[in-house]
Amino acid sequence: MTQTDKDRVLIFDTTLRDGEQSPGATMTHEEKLEIAGLLDEMGVDIIEAGFPIASEGDFNAVSAIAKQAQNAVICGLSRANYKDIDRCWEAVKHAKRPRIHTFIGTSPLHRAIPNLTKEEMAERIHDCVTHARNLCDNVQWSSMDATRTEWDFLKRTIDIAIKAGATTINIPDTVGYTAPVESADLIRRLIAEVDGADEVVFATHCHNDLGMATANSLAAVAGGARQIECTINGLGERAGNTALEEVVMAMKVRHDIMPWHTGVDTTKIMNVSRRVATVSGFQVQYNKAIVGKNAFAHESGIHQDGMLKNAETFEIMRPEDVGLSETNIVMGKHSGRAALRSKLKNLGYDLADNQLNDVFVRFKALADRKKEVFDDDLVALMRDSAVEAVNDRLQVKFLRVICGTEAPQSADLTMNVDGADHQVTATGDGPVDATFKAIKKIFPHEVNLQLFQVHAVTEGTDAQATVSVRLEEDGRIATGQAADTDTVVASAKAYVTALNRLLVRREKSAPGADVKGVSYKDVG
Ligand code: KIV
Ligand code: ZN
Repeated sequence: MTQTDKDRVLIFDTTLRDGEQSPGATMTHEEKLEIAGLLDEMGVDIIEAGFPIASEGDFNAVSAIAKQAQNAVICGLSRANYKDIDRCWEAVKHAKRPRIHTFIGTSPLHRAIPNLTKEEMAERIHDCVTHARNLCDNVQWSSMDATRTEWDFLKRTIDIAIKAGATTINIPDTVGYTAPVESADLIRRLIAEVDGADEVVFATHCHNDLGMATANSLAAVAGGARQIECTINGLGERAGNTALEEVVMAMKVRHDIMPWHTGVDTTKIMNVSRRVATVSGFQVQYNKAIVGKNAFAHESGIHQDGMLKNAETFEIMRPEDVGLSETNIVMGKHSGRAALRSKLKNLGYDLADNQLNDVFVRFKALADRKKEVFDDDLVALMRDSAVEAVNDRLQVKFLRVICGTEAPQSADLTMNVDGADHQVTATGDGPVDATFKAIKKIFPHEVNLQLFQVHAVTEGTDAQATVSVRLEEDGRIATGQAADTDTVVASAKAYVTALNRLLVRREKSAPGADVKGVSYKDVG
C-alpha cells in the first residue's frame, strides 16, 4: 500500500502539560528539558511544553524548551483570554516553529463555570482566536469537553474558530466519556459539515476514564482526524491520556487495517518511557501494553516453547521495534567499565567519563550484593544517581533497624543535614515507620505521606526493591524514588529524596510566583 500525506498522522505529545498535571507527576525544569529533547529526537511532531501563565516555572520551562527544540513545533496552552494568550506567545515565540493553543469548555457544564451565554462564548472564541492568530500563524483551538457539547453549538464554535484563523481544531474527550463509534462519527460529521474543514487539521484528545482512549483516538483518525494528542506511558490526570506508544505501535503493527503513519522512531519508545517513569515518579504497570515490564515476557512453558520455535507464535511485534535490546546480557561483579558503558548506552544513557566513574562505583557495590545485575537493576541504579543530585540538604548516612515479631521495631539513623551529621534512635510500628520517625526526629517537618509503594525490580530474594514516596505540603507535591536490596534503606532514601525536593520547591515558591486563579485543575 502506498502512503500519501493524507495518511500522515501528527503526534502531539502533551506529557509535559496534561501529563504533568497528574497530581504528584511534577517535574523539575531540567527534567522537562531532558524529556522535551528526547521527544524531539524521537520524531514527535508537536510538543505541548506547558501552560505558561500557570507559574514562573512553567513559563521558564516552555521558553527554554522553545529555544532548545530542533524539529518539533513547540506549543503552549492558554485559556481563552488575552492575558493567557500573550503570556503563552512570550514563551513559545523563541521556537523555530511556535504554536499557541487556546481553549474554553463548551459543554453546558463547562459553560456554567465562567457563566457565559452561548452568544458571549461565541464572541470570546472569535476574539481570542483572532488575537492569537495576530501573534502566531500556528494556532490550535480546543472546544473543551467537546464530546459532551450540544452538536449545534459545537459545530458553531468550530466554525467561528476556523473563520478566525485557527489552523488546528482539537475535539477533546476531556472526561473520557466517548466510545470508538461515536468518536469516529463526531469527527467525520464535523469535517463534512463545517465550512473550511479542508483547510485545517482536526485533532483528537482523549482521556482514559473508561479505558478507551487509545481506541477512541484511532477511531477519530478513521473519521478523519490527523493529529493525535497523547502522552508517554499514558500519563495524565485521573486515568490518564491516550498513550503515545499504544497509538503509534497500533498503526505500525496493524497497518493493514489502520493505513496511517507517523514520524515517530519507535525504537526510542522504551528509553523515553523509562525516563518519564523515573522523573514523574509514576511507575509503569507491569502489564501495560508496549512498555510494561511483562509486555514481552513469556513465562509459561507452552509460550516459551512456541517462542523458541518461532517468535511470531506469541509476539506481534519485535522487542527491538520499541527499543528493547534483544539480548538481555546479565552483568555481574566481573563486568568492566566498557561493558557497563555499552550496556547503559543500549538502555539510553550516554554517560560522560566522570558520570561513568560514579555509576561504576555504585554498580560494583550492587554487584557485590547481587549475583546478577539485570537491565532493570541498572535503570534503577541510574535513577538513584540522578536522585543523588538533588539530595543537597539531607542525606541518609547510616541505617540499622531492629525488627522481629515483637513490637516496637526500632531504627538507628545517621543523617547529614546541611553538612552536619546527626544520629538518633526511634521506635515505630514496623521498621519503615520507625525509620520515617527517625528522619522526622532529626529533621522535624509536617508533611502528608500520600503514597508509599514498594516494587521488586527483578525476581529472587536478592532483588532490589524500588520504593516510591509521595509527600504533600500546602498543596506542593514531591515524589522520591530509590532502589536498594534492602527495602527499608530504599524507603529511607526515597522519603529523603521526596523531602529534599519538597524543600527545593518550598524555597522556590516565592510569594506571587503563582498567578492567582490559574489552576491546572481548570483544564481537565
Ligand atoms: O482534556 C482537555 O480537554 C484538555 C484541553 C485543555 C485540551 O486537556
Ligand atoms: Zn486533557
